[in-house]
Amino acid sequence: MKYKKIITGDKSVTFISPKYGEAYHSLTGAREEAFKKYSEPCRIAELAKKGSIKILDICFGLGYNSAAALETALKSNPKCRIEIFALENDEGILKKSLDLKPGIKHYDLIKKAIKNKDRRYENGQIKIRILLGDARETIKEIIKNVKINKNPFDAVFFDPFSPRKCPELWTAEFFSDVNKVMKKGAILATYSCARSARKNMEKAGFIVKDGPVVRRWSPGTLGIK
Ligand SMILES: C[S@@+](CC[C@H](N)C(=O)[O-])C[C@H]1O[C@@H](n2cnc3c(N)ncnc32)[C@H](O)[C@@H]1O
Repeated sequence: MKYKKIITGDKSVTFISPKYGEAYHSLTGAREEAFKKYSEPCRIAELAKKGSIKILDICFGLGYNSAAALETALKSNPKCRIEIFALENDEGILKKSLDLKPGIKHYDLIKKAIKNKDRRYENGQIKIRILLGDARETIKEIIKNVKINKNPFDAVFFDPFSPRKCPELWTAEFFSDVNKVMKKGAILATYSCARSARKNMEKAGFIVKDGPVVRRWSPGTLGIK
């Protein structure tokens, strides 16, 4: 499959998906989006101050959102323990990350996780685990894992293609599975403010609020458990 490369407004690279015909990031700035639409509204810096943080990155793509979370958390508390579980179904886009330098600190750790056969990286302080497969299936593994270990997530990055192009991930059923693995008060952040998406988040039990407005675009959405 051919992924068309695009340089976004902040000079970081994104691609156009050959399957969905949509860009993987905002064209105004892929790196900026990772910090402003995900790490900031999910309060990664504040959470990191508590000493440990667990993040679910749904639709990992090039891993910019996870990398931005690593940079934000470690800047706030260099000793913070960080655990990231990432869901992605396209091996092709994971491999594209290996040649990139998006200007996000610790992106090399994301690349290490992608390169490893078992799609994991661990160094005693940081754990990254990428689950390859349809997120509607892999979320079931996450539910089991959270039940057994009694360790729900502090934050969720929710970044599928648009509800129009990828409706299967914006359903009340999928949001409800995601809700099950979150701590009370944890925040899910997404770039979309589509009415249908917000309705399904509410059906799944989230309190829905406007997310940040980045560069005068419409706001994103936050779902609070
Ligand atoms: C908008 S891009 C995400 C960009 C990514 N967050 C980043 O920082 O690079 C959406 C991603 O969702 C993935 N995807 C689409 N359908 C999926 C599914 N059913 N399960 C898991 N991943 C899926 C696509 O392969 C793509 O990488």
